[in-house]
Amino acid sequence: MAKVFITRHIPEIGIEKLKNSGLDLVYIGDRQLSKKELIEKLKEHNPDALVCLLTDTIDKEVLSSAPNLKICSTYSVGFGHIDLKAAEELGIVVTHTPGVLTETVAEHTAGLICAATQRIVEADKFTRAGKYTGWEPELLLGLDLKGKTLGVLGAGRIGTRVAEIMHHGFSMRIIYHDVAENNYLHDVVDADFYPELEKMLPNVDVLTVHVPLLPSTIHLLDKKKLLMLKKGAVFVNTSRGKVVVESDLVDVLESGHLFAVALDVYEFEPEITKKLLELPNTVLTPHIASASKETRDKMAEMVADNIIAFFKGESPKNQVKFS
Ligand code: DGY
Repeated sequence: MAKVFITRHIPEIGIEKLKNSGLDLVYIGDRQLSKKELIEKLKEHNPDALVCLLTDTIDKEVLSSAPNLKICSTYSVGFGHIDLKAAEELGIVVTHTPGVLTETVAEHTAGLICAATQRIVEADKFTRAGKYTGWEPELLLGLDLKGKTLGVLGAGRIGTRVAEIMHHGFSMRIIYHDVAENNYLHDVVDADFYPELEKMLPNVDVLTVHVPLLPSTIHLLDKKKLLMLKKGAVFVNTSRGKVVVESDLVDVLESGHLFAVALDVYEFEPEITKKLLELPNTVLTPHIASASKETRDKMAEMVADNIIAFFKGESPKNQVKFS
């Protein structure tokens, strides 16, 4: 019977699927393991399948510590935490959870855009602090979205869905940058493609980031590029924190160049630069953009389906391509 190791408990629906398919669940963690602990436990259990989270570092040392390991299934769409080269060398199949979280992350992103431009978090704090003493003509003035330009950095599934929501729901104009053109975005929201990021940034009122974490996207946005955004722009990131130099983002926000920043991801998460916590014009969520009950259940089912298919001798549907 193939042995499955789950670094941290995922929704029960996925656990049940794995159990019902006759696999042996040898370890289900109840807390985040350090790399050292993970290696020790993998050596102890020597599983055939590993279910990991985006918070686990799955490098060559970790993958090699379970000589029987054949498949690594991450409970996330992003797989920047897995050393794909090492997995390929060791003959380990990698799967992820694309598609099922698109809508949830896009809705959360839209929520962050609204919260940042309408100063909702700041206004809530103001009200709770008992500072609301009467209607005022210029109290907590925000920004309208209608007619403004949304710059989408990364026009994959999530970026595309955010563009649709913000165009159809809020009448924003859409422009985007990616490595390739997205014809669907042209057809559906009349978007303009910018092959060069530097040329897009000066036209952006709200920048929303949706690129995967790759060597080419680490620190893609630094002070120089952030300062290319229009003065008074809003910056939103629900992809990966390491795409932005967080200290540069804080500097640019403090300089007054940006109206607000809304983040779900952080360069050194769960650590967050102190200034971001202190400034009034930030909206900060704890990497929960995909955290709806429905979506997290679907992700757990997908993880299980991929592992079950693999041990049936089939090709898992959501295999990450090694390139
Ligand atoms: C993912 O799955 O990669 C997301 O970041 C989870 O929210």
